[in-house]
Amino acid sequence: MAASSTAAIGGLAAALLICTARLTLCCRISEFMCKSNGGCVRLDEYCDGKYDCPDRSDEPLYCTACNRTYYGEVGNSYRLSVKKLQKERPFLCHLSFTASGQEHGDFVELIFEEFRVGTLYLGECIGGEMQILELGRPYVGGSWCGAGPVDGSAPAVYYSETGTVTLTLRIPYSGLYTTLPFTFDLRFRFMDNRHASVRLGTAAEPKDRGELVPGTHCSRNFYECYRKRCSLQSPNYPGIYPRNVTCRYTVRQKVVPKCKHAMVALSQRPGNGVRPSSAKAGGPGGKTAGSRSNGTAIIRVNDMCSENEDRLVFHDGPDESDPVLLRFCGGPALPRVVASGPSMLVVFKSWEHNSPATFSSPTPVSRLRSFELDLQIAFVDSDSLDYVKRTAACEFIIGSPAVAVAKSRRGVLVNPQHTVPPNSTCTYKFQGQPDDRVWMYFESYGHRSTGHFLTFKPCPTRLRIWDGAGTLLGDHCDTPRLCEHIATGASSTAVAAATSNTTTTVAAPKRPCTLDESYLSKSASVILQVHSVLGTVLEPYSFRLHYEFVDSGVYDHENDDGSCVIEYTVRQSMDITEPRNVFLYGRGGAKNLDCVYRLQAEPGYRMQIVMRNASFGSRECTPMMAKTVTGRYACPPDDSNVDDGGGSGGDDAGDGPRLTVTEVYWRGVRMERGCFCQNFTEAALGSHHVTFDPSSDRVEIRFRVPALGIAEDFTNAYFNAHVRVLRSPPCPRKQWVRGSGGEIELAYPPQARDDLYCHGHPWLLEAQPDHSMFVQTWGHFLPLNTSVASCKTRNRILLYALRPRAVRLIRHICPTGTRDNRRNIHMFSDEWASYVPADRQNPSFLVEFVAQEPGSMAFKWLEVSKPSTKAHYASPAPPSQSFHNQSSRFGCAYGCPELNACISATLWCDGHRNCPSGVDEADLNCHAKWPSFKVLRSYGLPVVGLGLAGVVFAVLACIYCRRDPDYKQYDPETEPAAENTRSCSTIASS
Ligand SMILES: *[C@@H]1O[C@H](CO)[C@@H](O)[C@H](O)[C@H]1NC(C)=O
Ligand SMILES: *[C@@H]1O[C@H](CO)[C@@H](O)[C@H](O)[C@H]1NC(C)=O
Repeated sequence: MAASSTAAIGGLAAALLICTARLTLCCRISEFMCKSNGGCVRLDEYCDGKYDCPDRSDEPLYCTACNRTYYGEVGNSYRLSVKKLQKERPFLCHLSFTASGQEHGDFVELIFEEFRVGTLYLGECIGGEMQILELGRPYVGGSWCGAGPVDGSAPAVYYSETGTVTLTLRIPYSGLYTTLPFTFDLRFRFMDNRHASVRLGTAAEPKDRGELVPGTHCSRNFYECYRKRCSLQSPNYPGIYPRNVTCRYTVRQKVVPKCKHAMVALSQRPGNGVRPSSAKAGGPGGKTAGSRSNGTAIIRVNDMCSENEDRLVFHDGPDESDPVLLRFCGGPALPRVVASGPSMLVVFKSWEHNSPATFSSPTPVSRLRSFELDLQIAFVDSDSLDYVKRTAACEFIIGSPAVAVAKSRRGVLVNPQHTVPPNSTCTYKFQGQPDDRVWMYFESYGHRSTGHFLTFKPCPTRLRIWDGAGTLLGDHCDTPRLCEHIATGASSTAVAAATSNTTTTVAAPKRPCTLDESYLSKSASVILQVHSVLGTVLEPYSFRLHYEFVDSGVYDHENDDGSCVIEYTVRQSMDITEPRNVFLYGRGGAKNLDCVYRLQAEPGYRMQIVMRNASFGSRECTPMMAKTVTGRYACPPDDSNVDDGGGSGGDDAGDGPRLTVTEVYWRGVRMERGCFCQNFTEAALGSHHVTFDPSSDRVEIRFRVPALGIAEDFTNAYFNAHVRVLRSPPCPRKQWVRGSGGEIELAYPPQARDDLYCHGHPWLLEAQPDHSMFVQTWGHFLPLNTSVASCKTRNRILLYALRPRAVRLIRHICPTGTRDNRRNIHMFSDEWASYVPADRQNPSFLVEFVAQEPGSMAFKWLEVSKPSTKAHYASPAPPSQSFHNQSSRFGCAYGCPELNACISATLWCDGHRNCPSGVDEADLNCHAKWPSFKVLRSYGLPVVGLGLAGVVFAVLACIYCRRDPDYKQYDPETEPAAENTRSCSTIASS
């Protein structure tokens, strides 16, 4: 009743029917029916050397276990031993095992308890072999031979993929090998798929093993492995896999979220995979695949794999022509392999022959055992630099031309998130705008070896950074300059492989990176190269690099002394913004920002400046004076006032934020025309308050932001100004006057051409050393620090004292239109009262008319000196009795007794009332108009040399030339040389 395997399968349905019909004579398909009484014994009890049937029909003469088909029941374990009876003939034996479903199981487990069939010699089977064939799978022809298991180790286990598996034992007849021992003891079980959790996963978490490609032995296609558990398993996992097979595993991810890029990743789940599962512990139905530690195991990859080794080849794409990421032929664990794109081809090849002792043999031909790899799909941002866009070259271009867009001027770069093949170089080219420099710092950098190499490479990962000009900025085999403290913990690249997002709050960085912790190029481009000798599977490297294109156009950090002065000759309308150089800001390491823009108009032109907006971040101040009498915003005073107008002062962190517009006049004289310390926009303030019409051709805009936070830069603190060029000259009149005295008148609206051009231009009244300046006008003083004042007009006269580098408002005058003597007010320059000599500065006043409504203003000025305390004047015959008697009493030849001040002799009886009282023009005093020669000499004027005639002419000229009604100066000699002015003095001295 030796049924061939095919007959058994074919008769399966019929046998079951027979059983139900003939209840008494029924044996199950997994049983052998004894001949006489119809008793049933297990199939493996047939010809096992023991009588099991009462009639001994289970042990016929010359019986053999071969050429039979075995069935069994789930839960039972069966044994089978093949004996070779006739030693002198070739031996052929087929053993079929069929799991026929339900209680007969879904697949078969074969445990090779004792296997001695032929021998494995130089990778070939000689003297006998075993082949395994599964029904429905193509014949591949590989075979097993050798002896196993070796002492103490677990036997090899085979788990069928299909329901029927046939073993063929073949021993050729050859005198040579007849002495080789033959033993074949097998244990087998029929397994239920429900218990095959190692292979198929659990009901809760099933494994997707891919779709078998029809007509192939083990090629499988995986699709859409995102959010499901795809498991790339060796054929017949977790048991031994067939010989001489080629399995192509193709992985594709077609569904990719918008703006994402998918990459296929393969990794080994801990406890699973490349390491063998111990047959004792495991099997597809077993709980775990045990792994015995093997400390000496080395990882065998790439060119370490020998010709006849089983191997896994990972391709960076769906074809075998795609670049090879890794060849793997055994080792303790397979490192993570990631393709650069949404598809990957893994080719598994097993060598033609092997020993089933593979699991335990100390020197197996193949070191690769059954494996299971987890398939994952990683997503990165499609516009990120985390992956190579063309698989041909690992090249990235950062910057140009998109670098003009503010958003792309800085960023974070990480190492490629996929596998970089051995001996490959990844190149990052940073290309900025012509004025740019490239600043970069590593937040982290690491490369680590997975160990277990046979080959030692002195510099497995080499990082080089070139300045675009060709100089090497860095060449590192270990760690480059690091700026670890900048770590924010936020990763720009979320490799979303269904991994939970661990959000850890990391303290904000305490300080920015210094130049010692970073790289700064001298040119607009940088090339960064990372070369990997072994590839990133074996020597993974990782870095997190911050880069920034730094605009050094208006301010070059390296070539500067630290002061930020930017100069422009304004030829056409232009926009001015804050410097976009991060090194001036907190994020670049600066504590305070203080930049001065010096604008100079072309000759014959003037500027108009509109402040469009400004921001000081969160430190904005409340403008103390919302609007001054000038209609401009002003800032609360700060301590660095004396420093105003200079470059960046020293440590002025204590001062408030400022955006000032300052006009620059004659040497060193600057007047602040407006100051903002609040965040504003033009629209919010009104264009009147942000528009400046300087009368000077030189203007300075100063932008100062103190106490910068380390995250702050020009996106927090900024301003925008627009400069227009107007085709009208700056104030052409010389308003810097010196001499003995004069009178200035101004009417608004301007009437003369100069009045128009010089509208708002201050007057500088300068006295000689050892003299003082005296001014007189009509009106009343107003409190300084408020704009609310009792004044009938919105016009003002402002009086400033000149300090070495600044001007200081000292008087605020409400003018009366008329020269009402009851409203006569006057002032001396500082040193007059204090006797403190003016510091390097001649005594002076700066006078400004603020004209906002029609009206007129006037003032007089006098250069005065102190009466001599020694009363050296001793004229025997003074020309004037009435005054000179008085004046000699307080020590002046000529003076204003009501002021107790001496005045220039040239003013005496010149037709203008210079003294407030007018005593200098009193009839009594002017009887003898010309003082004696001796008087002049004693007065010490240089005028002596010129002679009296010159004085007379000058005076006369002045009288006749009073066409210019607002300005009279009566002292030609000391007037500074002035071009292009119609003042009296020019005419007089010419
Ligand atoms: C098994 O069957 C084959 C023919 O299919 C035969 O050549 C072989 O001798 C048989 N083996 C045994 C042990 O009977
Ligand atoms: C192994 O397979 C190849 C085809 O893939 C075949 O040509 C070769 O003959 C096979 N080897 C053996 C020993 O059957």
